[in-house]
Amino acid sequence: MEPLNWQQARAEMLLDPTVINLNTGSFGPLPRSVFARVTQLRQELAAEPMNFLLRTAPPLLWQARSRLAEFVGTTPQRLVFTANVTTAINLVASSLRLAAPGDILLSDHEYGAMHWCWERAAQRQGLTIRTFPLPIDPDDPEEIVQAAIRAMTPRTRLLFFSHVLSPTGMVLPARELCAAARARGILTVVDGAHALAMVPLHLDALGCDFYGSNCHKWLLAPTGSGFLYLGAGQEDRLQPLQVSWGWQHEHTRRDEPDEFGSTPRIRFLEFEGTRDPSPWLAVPEALAFQERLGWQAIRGRMEELGCHVRQRLGQDQRLKLATPTHPALHGSLTAFHLPTSTDPQILRRRLWEGHRIEAPIIERPYGLLLRVSTHFYNTCEEIDRLVQALPDLLN
Ligand SMILES: Cc1ncc(COP(=O)(O)O)c(C=O)c1O
Repeated sequence: MEPLNWQQARAEMLLDPTVINLNTGSFGPLPRSVFARVTQLRQELAAEPMNFLLRTAPPLLWQARSRLAEFVGTTPQRLVFTANVTTAINLVASSLRLAAPGDILLSDHEYGAMHWCWERAAQRQGLTIRTFPLPIDPDDPEEIVQAAIRAMTPRTRLLFFSHVLSPTGMVLPARELCAAARARGILTVVDGAHALAMVPLHLDALGCDFYGSNCHKWLLAPTGSGFLYLGAGQEDRLQPLQVSWGWQHEHTRRDEPDEFGSTPRIRFLEFEGTRDPSPWLAVPEALAFQERLGWQAIRGRMEELGCHVRQRLGQDQRLKLATPTHPALHGSLTAFHLPTSTDPQILRRRLWEGHRIEAPIIERPYGLLLRVSTHFYNTCEEIDRLVQALPDLLN
């Protein structure tokens, strides 16, 4: 097979040419074809809302659910579309009943807003939040599993962790963590915000109870697309965030596709009243776009760019790599500890105003991190521009 021309592939993205976007980890930009698809759908919605919402959208919604399900290794009956992973985790945390007294166990690297979801759940249900420290620079995924196991007690009701950590990009051994929790009767909820289209996913084989993710990051689907996966045996444990027309439904044939592009069981959780489903309906085009380039080629390209980041930024003595180099423990987010003297506000301003570089400066209790995302559309030259800017940024 001919090697892909990455310059040509990049030209298929809608990118502001004046910006160096090293931040797919926050929000993915759109391929032109995905933008065209979502715009076409919105045009149809605008022109004839009744026809679009009642007749056009339902079969497209089922198609989108099926395509996404196939990609993530499950069946459409297990996927609830959401606006984002925040909604997905809230769906679980706001309604899952856990036996009190007891603990909700989280890693100490969780995304702040998700940590709060569990704090509220704990407050409401008389439970305690406990965090366990992840190993700083593990050489082996098993070290992470052992760290979690050491923190599990007979009082632990639920384990929540990110599949890919937001601050450092470390990839956690999700399957092994879920197995360890399950063996102790502990439920698992996985925050897969960054995992979709960054690491291979097979949700039915993962063994989690619930898994939430975003389509708007590495999948490069429109803002407003995410999902919640319901694991085997957990189909009936949640309540919707909004009660709407899915509330009262037929209790036979609950997993059969209905006339709304859902199933009665899914619609119970998913339907929130009138909303624009176009971002969900454009997910198949986002999948098709990266499939056309080839997942294997994309993964190879991401790994190559990640190596370039480690090599080039790693040469600066003031930066210390925060992402493990073990192949199973990193994906396409690479983070560096910044010198303690760094002022985050000044650094953010210099990055953006001085160099038009998008790369987040993340504040954690243990210090500041610079995080670099590398999707296929990035280039070695962009990474080199960040390296060249470092003297100005850090002095
Ligand atoms: C690990 C993690 N969880 C949750 C979120 C929240 O994502 P969203 O705002 O799309 O719901 C993010 C956002 O970057 C994240 O990194």
